[in-house]
Amino acid sequence: MIPHNRTFISADDQVAVHAVLASGWIAQGPAVTALEMRFVQHYSGGAACAVSNGTTSLFLALKGLGAKSGTEVALPSYACSALLNAVYMAGATPKVVDVLPNNFCLNPDAIETQAPNAGFVFAVHTYGATADITTIKSQDRVVIEDCCQAQGGVGVTNVPLGAIGDAAVFSFYATKVVTGGQGGLIWSGDSLLVEKIRDYRQFDCRETYEPRFNFQMTDIQAALVNSQMQRLEAIRERRAYIANKYLAVMPSGLSTQAGLLETGRMVHRFVVVTPDRVIRNALRTHLAAAGVECIVPLDQFELLHRYLKLDPNDFPISERLANTTLSLPIHLCLSDDDVSLISDALYRFQP
Ligand SMILES: Cc1ncc(COP(=O)(O)O)c(C=O)c1O
Repeated sequence: MIPHNRTFISADDQVAVHAVLASGWIAQGPAVTALEMRFVQHYSGGAACAVSNGTTSLFLALKGLGAKSGTEVALPSYACSALLNAVYMAGATPKVVDVLPNNFCLNPDAIETQAPNAGFVFAVHTYGATADITTIKSQDRVVIEDCCQAQGGVGVTNVPLGAIGDAAVFSFYATKVVTGGQGGLIWSGDSLLVEKIRDYRQFDCRETYEPRFNFQMTDIQAALVNSQMQRLEAIRERRAYIANKYLAVMPSGLSTQAGLLETGRMVHRFVVVTPDRVIRNALRTHLAAAGVECIVPLDQFELLHRYLKLDPNDFPISERLANTTLSLPIHLCLSDDDVSLISDALYRFQP
């Protein structure tokens, strides 16, 4: 079976990790600093703070930007529960909003109707798509760009994803575009904000007491991420190449998330949209019979409005996506033969 996810670790990645292991310093240290500097360079300024994971990044961005009890945070229903957890950890109130059918990202108009009093927004660049940050920003809200699935992505206006909002957050979990096993990072153009967040990341050796935490990333993780980030362009190209192959054989009646072939797009997932749940499940069975493992990227029970027991009728697009989508393997361990096998199987599916 060709697995849906598999982490690609190159020989160079292994050398980088071994160098840290041999150095005698494996906790947060020079490799973490190098990772932060890499992000500052990528955005041509600002500041970055590497942390333990993406959920921590979301929480610390909220906390650093001043979210507290009574703050309402708009977030897409079609998203993972990490977002909800971060809001509750910050003591704030989640306001779940529906998404757009074409790019699966937050619908700016729905924020106005479903979360009119939200002062904050988690805008997720879902599966690498570009959420409409400019419109959301124009609504006069604090915007945290969730780039956990869009590492290295460049938006349609040629601006790196994460650059427009008040802060951008990243995850380096094992299934992400670049990984340290676990890990996260907050970047912002506001260096003072990042200093505040940095202060909260660790508690040791402080002259004055304030409740702080241990949200640090290790140098082992950072070395792995740094090593992979050196091949970000090659990763982008390979993912685009695979997406192209699948798109070329897509049976009529099936579609995908919009913009997969946009220049600069980092295709985190290749998600097929089918007419209904029955056909989606049939496609999954068909591909499994051909030796291809696919996953439902976000199932109905995982939708955030379902977790909060809100009326599903208010979230029709999220409901539809949860019932009709299937994610195909698109990772760096796929050989050209694997890609051909998957493409052939997709081509042969009759909806
Ligand atoms: C969009 C999004 N935000 C946040 C997270 C949380 O990241 P982590 O798993 O590193 O805590 C994830 C990862 O699963 C994610 O996909």
